[in-house]
Amino acid sequence: MPDTLDVLIDHATLAGKIAEMARQIESDFGDEPVLLIGVLKGSVHFLSDLARALRNDTQLDFMQTSSYGSGKSSTGVVQIRKDLDINIEGLNVIIVEDIVDTGITLSHLRELLSTRRPKSLKVAALLSKTEARKVHPPVEYIGFEIPNDFVVGYGLDYAERYRNLPYIAILREG
Ligand code: IMP
Ligand code: MG
Repeated sequence: MPDTLDVLIDHATLAGKIAEMARQIESDFGDEPVLLIGVLKGSVHFLSDLARALRNDTQLDFMQTSSYGSGKSSTGVVQIRKDLDINIEGLNVIIVEDIVDTGITLSHLRELLSTRRPKSLKVAALLSKTEARKVHPPVEYIGFEIPNDFVVGYGLDYAERYRNLPYIAILREG
């Protein structure tokens, strides 16, 4: 049996919400420049949309962490596989995440980046599964609260598949 994909959030709804998040960030930061840090690979489409919607002076950089292997649940051990190129001291940093699930990845990233003395440190997550939280790092900008189902699309994968879908779908394995 093939996997089943049930659309949870369509492309137009994602685009509308990301524009709203950009307006919120603009109103919080005013004329100040921001640095968006995309957490690879899941944040790619969200980061790209958010960056293009923002009218602030905006820089981009990337990090990659790994905690999932190829399965559906976190191993709880967060490794940095790619670190930043930019020195973030004194900058307004916004970590851009696809989804906050247990919160373990984000909590680790917040701790690590705050030791580098940014001027401010915030988080924008497209999706949040509040029910699945094991630790509770602050998430200043949340696109959508979703149920505790495994989702794919718009950057999110299952074993590296489905990242290209232009919508978010609940994955049910065949
Ligand atoms: P956390 O450390 O448990 O919060 O997990 C964070 C990372 O796990 C996210 O950035 C995603 O890459 C991945 N993840 C969590 N839930 C899902 C899901 O439902 N689908 C795909 N990836 C997920
Ligand atoms: Mg991720």
